[in-house]
Amino acid sequence: MSNPSGGLHIASRNNSLERSNIHSESFLEERDIDGTPETGCLSIVVLGASGDLAKKKTFPALFHLFRQGFLQSNEVHIFGYARTKISSEELRERLRGYLSKGKEDSAELDYLSKFLQLIKYVSGSYDGEEGFQLLNKEISEHESSKNTQLGTSRRLFYLALPPSVYPSVCRMIRNYCMNQSDLTGWTRIIVEKPFGKDLSSAEELSAQLGELFDEKQLYRIDHYLGKELVQNLLVVRFANRFFLPLWNRDNIDNVQIVFREDFGTEGRGGYFDEYGIIRDIIQNHLLQVFCLVAMEKPVSLKPEHIRDEKVKVLQSVLPIKLEEVVLGQYDGYKDDETVSPNSNTPTFATVVLRIHNERWEGVPFILKAGKALNSRKAEIRVQFKEVPGDIYKCQQQGRNEFVIRLQPLEAMYMKLTVKKPGLEMSTIQSELDLSYKQRYQDVVIPEAYERLILDTIRGDQQHFVRRDELRAAWEIFTPLLNQIDDGVLKPLPYKPGSRGPVEADELLAKAGYQQTHDYIWIPPTL
Ligand code: NDP
Ligand code: BG6
Repeated sequence: MSNPSGGLHIASRNNSLERSNIHSESFLEERDIDGTPETGCLSIVVLGASGDLAKKKTFPALFHLFRQGFLQSNEVHIFGYARTKISSEELRERLRGYLSKGKEDSAELDYLSKFLQLIKYVSGSYDGEEGFQLLNKEISEHESSKNTQLGTSRRLFYLALPPSVYPSVCRMIRNYCMNQSDLTGWTRIIVEKPFGKDLSSAEELSAQLGELFDEKQLYRIDHYLGKELVQNLLVVRFANRFFLPLWNRDNIDNVQIVFREDFGTEGRGGYFDEYGIIRDIIQNHLLQVFCLVAMEKPVSLKPEHIRDEKVKVLQSVLPIKLEEVVLGQYDGYKDDETVSPNSNTPTFATVVLRIHNERWEGVPFILKAGKALNSRKAEIRVQFKEVPGDIYKCQQQGRNEFVIRLQPLEAMYMKLTVKKPGLEMSTIQSELDLSYKQRYQDVVIPEAYERLILDTIRGDQQHFVRRDELRAAWEIFTPLLNQIDDGVLKPLPYKPGSRGPVEADELLAKAGYQQTHDYIWIPPTL
């Protein structure tokens, strides 16, 4: 149970979920989801089917769901819709090229062929009725071929499109492609980020979509909410006695929520330059994680109860202080010809959020995100305060930390001070380590998109962003974004492949974070 660094592993490394006889519960019923029919013919329409997101995320997620039996060929049909004039066969071949990469097994390739046969492509504009009437005709034909009575069908529209066309596309869906009756079926819309650029544009978009669809039909996707360890956050916090008394200002000194990528914005410079790292990562992905780390316990697992608590904690965030912000832009960012030569867009930001409530008053939540840094990872690092009456000189070893590594190599570990094994009475820092790869060897962790599309089919909105949540998120960041857009705040330069501007580490230290020195982790072997 120990490794050479003194690491203590909380369970045998040789277990899969089944072998370790883990008792698992499904909470689907308790969530009291939507309540509308979840059977019958299902039509999934991917709008923007010719695009990058559709190819890399949406269709692969649908394929994996199909592969695992969640989409049955006798009830599901998938439609691709975009302006590009290609045939269904051409779309299938494009997708085959992408989805068959690295697959040699003939059974797998067989599954892929069966999946591709479910896909039909319709070409049309995003604001003209003709294309959407044709789409509706195709969906209806599919529904009648499955002997579905009028109105007993389920229609899911996935908007893999630039937000500028959301309103017109939603209007077209509303006018021409709706399921006939919500009593015997449903129409649901998955909307991708970015949801607006600031508070007013987000509110305008929400109002436009709100005129066309009820909130319960809208699924604003933030794929971080579909990540395994993000979904685990509330379980860990509220199902473990360990954490209940510790999770507060009395014990926690600071919390970091970090996103790093070791590549730049190549290929997406045009989009990125308009948005920047705060809108691309912090205002959505990191803030969603922040909500789950900081919110109070919900009354139940019902999606609305959970989302109510997320809104409350967002509303308790104090205005961001400019002295608690460091922005950066990597050298060479502006060499991309799709980026403005005078761009003031940050590709790196560290922002300290402070919550004005009983649990968190005084505890800095440090949100940090950057492109073109020295590594790729996303993690939450909860750093505890020092032990009072420190007879073992624990302070020398470093503070206790609870780290949740969202990616890569999902893990949770607690860094703690223990006696160094041996005759001497001395202490070292070690860890309780739950590395998913070791602990759950046979379990394939699903892609975030897979999970979230399945949630939409099941009518579970827990892991989607509600309108008031979105508003509260923009309220936090809009004043800061205005200052950046007006050129009042300027990003500091940093070298690609570095840790970002040194000022960011200085801010971290100022906020109270203490780096653990001399701690060496030796990875367990399988
Ligand atoms: P790290 O050593 O990666 O990072 C410790 C912290 O120090 C991070 O918050 C990092 O921030 C910060 N940091 C690094 N350099 C500086 C600096 N110059 N100034 C200020 N802050 C800095 O993580 P750990 O100590 O938790 O673990 C050490 C290694 O062991 C890691 O590689 C970890 O992944 C691994 N480990 C893995 C386990 C597992 O897989 N189960 C279990 C235990 C440990 P930033 O993110 O900004 O770099
Ligand atoms: C997207 C951002 O939302 O998330 C990208 O637009 C970023 O800039 C991506 O690269 C990161 O997602 P993941 O799942 O790879 O961490």
